[in-house]
Amino acid sequence: MSRKRKLRILHVVGARPNFIKISPIMDAMKNYPQLFQQQLVHTGQHYDEQMCSVFFEELGLNPPDFNLEVGSGSHATQTAEIMQRVEPLLLEIRPDWMIVPGDVNSTLACTLVASKLQIKVAHVEAGLRSGDRSMPEEINRIVTDHLSELLLTPSLEANENLHREGIDGHKIRFVGNVMIDTLVRLQDKAESLWPRIQGRLKLSDFILVTLHRPSNVDHPETLAELMGALGGLAERHTVVFPVHPRSRQKIDQLGFSNGSPDLRLIPPLGYLEFLALQRHARLVITDSGGVQEETTWLGVPCLTVRPNTERPITIDSGTNRLVESRREAIIEAVDSSLGQLECEPGHRPKYWDGQTAGRIVEAFCQL
Ligand code: UD1
Ligand code: UDP
Repeated sequence: MSRKRKLRILHVVGARPNFIKISPIMDAMKNYPQLFQQQLVHTGQHYDEQMCSVFFEELGLNPPDFNLEVGSGSHATQTAEIMQRVEPLLLEIRPDWMIVPGDVNSTLACTLVASKLQIKVAHVEAGLRSGDRSMPEEINRIVTDHLSELLLTPSLEANENLHREGIDGHKIRFVGNVMIDTLVRLQDKAESLWPRIQGRLKLSDFILVTLHRPSNVDHPETLAELMGALGGLAERHTVVFPVHPRSRQKIDQLGFSNGSPDLRLIPPLGYLEFLALQRHARLVITDSGGVQEETTWLGVPCLTVRPNTERPITIDSGTNRLVESRREAIIEAVDSSLGQLECEPGHRPKYWDGQTAGRIVEAFCQL
């Protein structure tokens, strides 16, 4: 590794998946104190203990150097608040690079401010496209990619998406999937918790669920279909659903009454417990981006309740399959997946190998 001058890096996190993606990069850069000086800003987009602090503890992330404490709000309010609060910070510390992971509002807001101050942005997980602009994350991805100076992609198809949009090839580096670095590092630790979780939740054969996309949970009719599907599945399986706070509010507003002891609606879990559950589930039902990737890596069948995905590699090479957000469609898809004698194991995509953060460090050294 060589560089002429130490780079001053500001990492940005805001929401649950960001913590999981930034942690390996900070760890990898920590090994080269002569090359990098790092600071971490947390926008405060996620703030509950189970959506935030638990990840700092389990991932071994140092407390953020700066917390903007923006909290929740509409897209415009949240994005604007982050922009207003991050601007004075960027003016004060003027990092050489700002590293932003993923596609959440914090990613977009900090990118907009940094690029207008001519602070270079590196986007981790660049180039993902669902082609669906009704999804707020798609807008965040497109804008962030077009304003970034370094685009660190998880797959070659992400590179193709960027080329198609006319982004200069010199800015693009295929480094792999950094979320998988965290999984690889912590899988044994997660596994060691399994007997305790299994005992607590009394699990043998179960389906794991996460649902939080506005397109699924914000429309009462769609949410009613989904909860109906889970209730139906709970007649034959144990269904474990750690409920995201957005979904918890919407389920309460729906007045859903859970009549089944086998539909377990529980608070969101920390990373380690959730990873152990993914590994032992017979099948996962989700609308999460990261969970589509983790199940592919683990070889666990996954049904993604969405009309499209920005991660088609999880379908083409992995264990993922799209399913409509209708009760019958979901129950049929579960039956057909579980009815197969053996799940197609799929294969792990290139550079989903636990070494992505090292390739990100290398990319910075080559600048
Ligand atoms: C956000 C991201 C989404 C990502 C998800 C990860 C955007 C546009 N969306 O969605 O891409 O998949 O995070 O989990 O950035 N809330 C709490 N406690 C918290 C955080 C949120 O109660 O700690 C509640 C609030 O009522 C809030 C709602 O959840 O209004 C939604 O939170 P928000 O961060 O706006 O979006 P997410 O749905 O979490
Ligand atoms: N996750 C977790 N606890 C949970 C649900 C998910 O730790 O109760 C982890 C999951 O393993 C993955 C990440 O959170 O690493 C995915 O985040 P989320 O689904 O919130 O966001 P997305 O990936 O859809 O942006």
